[in-house]
Amino acid sequence: MRSDDDSWDITTSVGSTALFVAASRALEAKKPDPLAVDPYAEIFCRAAGGDWADLVDGGAPEHVLRTEFGEQFVNFQGARTRYFDDYFTRVMTAGVRQIVLLAAGLDSRAYRLPWPGGTTVFEIDQPRVLEFKREVLAAAGAPPTAPRREVAVDLRDDWPAALVGAGFDPVRPSAWIAEGLLIYLPATAQESLFDAIDALAAVGSWLGVEEATPMPAEAFAAKRDEERAAGAEQSFFTLVYNEQHAPADVWFGARGWSADVTPLADHLERLGRPVALADPQSEAMIRAESLVTAVKK
Ligand SMILES: C[S@@+](CC[C@H](N)C(=O)[O-])C[C@H]1O[C@@H](n2cnc3c(N)ncnc32)[C@H](O)[C@@H]1O
Repeated sequence: MRSDDDSWDITTSVGSTALFVAASRALEAKKPDPLAVDPYAEIFCRAAGGDWADLVDGGAPEHVLRTEFGEQFVNFQGARTRYFDDYFTRVMTAGVRQIVLLAAGLDSRAYRLPWPGGTTVFEIDQPRVLEFKREVLAAAGAPPTAPRREVAVDLRDDWPAALVGAGFDPVRPSAWIAEGLLIYLPATAQESLFDAIDALAAVGSWLGVEEATPMPAEAFAAKRDEERAAGAEQSFFTLVYNEQHAPADVWFGARGWSADVTPLADHLERLGRPVALADPQSEAMIRAESLVTAVKK
């Protein structure tokens, strides 16, 4: 179970979810028609070893990413990566040069996007997660494409002070991303996060958020029990909170931001990936998800 001050490395607890989505990006990149190519995702999986490495070599037949659910999860990650890569292209065109990756995990955008001169990328996550990324990519001889500042702090602590301490300037516009994050925070921490982003974002700032409508409480409890009964070593349903403080477009829309919501299902359909699925759990996951972009006016 989670606690208010729990911590992790890349293979344990919430940290392992960063590997899970990186492995999904690696599998997407291997398709003949990938929605997005993150060349570093495979490198992270190989460095982690075990099932993660086997997965990218076509093995690990028992891994959840090999199930029908996993197949759709890989589509989801491909679509999500594409959406937020496009978001950052628009951010660059808009002239924003301060980037904040909240819960950066193994997001490799600081290493693979063509950041214009003058850009700084701030990455916030727990220390051991950021350390794994830095060491693996340094060993692979892959330098960041913009100055990268690690802000090794928990997002339930005073991360705004740490971010400013790392050189972030609240007077200049910034662009933020919360991708694969909100489900790991209780509603109170989501509210503090939104408050802090709004306080630190100058006019002209951008925000990208991935969010999910919570499951009905009974269905969520049943999934949690099911995973426990199956003896899962790491249980997704014990890592997430199934809470939503407020939909991002509504919350930021009420504070002077102009927000645009794209249901993940619409995005997948446009990209030619399936939405109506045989597995109801996979379809429910897709239909609960939204991708949001907002600009502070
Ligand atoms: C599913 S991964 C997503 C990583 C990355 N945003 C991506 O999409 O590839 C979740 C990440 O959230 C980070 N995270 C979750 N809760 C956090 C917290 N309270 N403080 C700092 N990082 C947190 C984890 O360490 C992990 O890297």
